[in-house]
Amino acid sequence: MSIPTPHQSLPLGGRHIVLGLSGGIACYKSAELVRELHKAGASVQVVMTEAAQAFITPVTMQALSGRPVATSQWDGREPNNMAHINLSRDADAILVAPASADFIAKLALGRADELLSLLCLARPIAQCPLLLAPAMNREMWAHPATRRNVHQVRADGATLFGPGAGDQACGEVGDGRMLEATELRDELIAFFQPKLLAGRRVLITAGPTFEAIDPVRGITNLSSGKMGFAIARAAQEAGALVTLVAGPVHLATPRHVRRIDVRSALQMHDAVLPLAARQDVFVATAAVADWRPASPADHKIKKDGSGAVPGFVMTENPDILAAVASLVPPPFCVGFAAESQDLARHAREKLVRKSVPLVVGNLGPATFGRDDNTLLLVDAEGERALATADKLSLARELVREIAQRLQAVA
Ligand code: CTP
Repeated sequence: MSIPTPHQSLPLGGRHIVLGLSGGIACYKSAELVRELHKAGASVQVVMTEAAQAFITPVTMQALSGRPVATSQWDGREPNNMAHINLSRDADAILVAPASADFIAKLALGRADELLSLLCLARPIAQCPLLLAPAMNREMWAHPATRRNVHQVRADGATLFGPGAGDQACGEVGDGRMLEATELRDELIAFFQPKLLAGRRVLITAGPTFEAIDPVRGITNLSSGKMGFAIARAAQEAGALVTLVAGPVHLATPRHVRRIDVRSALQMHDAVLPLAARQDVFVATAAVADWRPASPADHKIKKDGSGAVPGFVMTENPDILAAVASLVPPPFCVGFAAESQDLARHAREKLVRKSVPLVVGNLGPATFGRDDNTLLLVDAEGERALATADKLSLARELVREIAQRLQAVA
C-alpha cells in the first residue's frame, strides 16, 4: 500500500522581499526575521539606513540573507548606479522593520535623502506594496505628530503590521513594540493571500468538549482543535472577520481572530447561538460530545471500598450545527464528519440529516492530533477529495471552496 506524502508548499515560495531596517533597538528582531522569511521560502534583500547600522551590522544581515546589504544610494557596484530603482523592480514587497518614528515621518513627507526612503518613493506603487512594522517608545507612537504621519502613510497606500503592546526597551510598557519575527512572517504570509472572504463574518467551532462527571473528572475526546484553528487562520488571511469558539485546547489563537473559550457542549452551544444569525459562514469542526452526565456530582465521587462502580445517567447534548442550520436564513453551514470508516456514506448521511450544504469528511483516528489531514468534500453535487497535506494548506483550499459556493449563492 502506498503512503500518501503530505504536500507542503512554502507559504512565501518564489517571493522576493526587500527588507528595510531603520534605526531602533528592534533591529535585533530583524536578524531573526530574515531567517523566518527564508524558511518560509522568500528571498530577502536587506537595505539599512545609517541609523540601523548603529544597532546591528550589515555583516550580520549579509550572512543571514546571503546577499550584500545595500546601504547607500551612491553604491558604485550597481552598473547603472541606480540602486533605488533596481532594488524594487523585482520585489514583491518592501517591508520596513523596524520602521522608526523618524522614518515614518520621512515617508509621510515624501523625503528621499538616503537609500531606503529613496527606494520607497521610487517603487512602482501598483506592483510593489510598502509594508511598515513600527517600532518606537509608546510616547512617540502616541504623539500627535506620529499619529498624523501614520494616517498620511496609510492614505498614501502603506500597510502597517502592528505595532504590538508590551514591555519596551526603555523600561516603559505600552503600544509601540515591533511585532516578533514570527508574527511579522505570518502578517506577510496573510498579506499575500487572496482576499476571497473580504468582510465576511465567519464563525468556527473547534476542539473537543469536556463533559463533567464530578469536579475533577469528565468525558472528552481526542480532537486537538488543529483543523479548526487552521481554518480560522485561513479565513482571517482571506479577509474574513473570524470568531473561534474553542473547546479545551492548548493552541495559540491565530492573529486577529476573536476567540471564545468554552468547556462543555452546552457552553459551546450557548456561545455559538447568539452569534450565529449575524454570520455569513459557520464551520463546525468541533468534536462535540454527543452525551453528557445528566447530573454531575457536586463533589468528587469516592471509592467506598466495596468494589462498586459508579453509574451515571447520560443525556444528549444539543446539536449545535443542526441548530445553526435551522436558522432562517442560515449562514452558509459547513459540517465536519469525523469517522472511523465508511467516510463518504457517513458524510452524505450527515449532509442530509443536518440540512447543510457542505460536509467535510475525515478519518478521526488518522488525523486527531496530527499536523496533516486528508479531506473529502461532500455536497449535493458529489464528492471531491483534497489530497493529504498540512492542515493549514487544506484549510486554505477549504476557504477557496467556501468562497466559490458563497459567490454561487449570491
Ligand atoms: N456537531 C455539533 N453539535 C453536536 C454534535 C455534532 O455541532 N452536538 C457537529 C460537529 O461539529 C460536526 C458535525 O456536527 O460538524 C458532525 O459531528 P459528528 O460528531 O461527526 O456527528 P454526529 O452528529 O455526532 O453523529 P455521530 O456521532 O453519530 O457520528
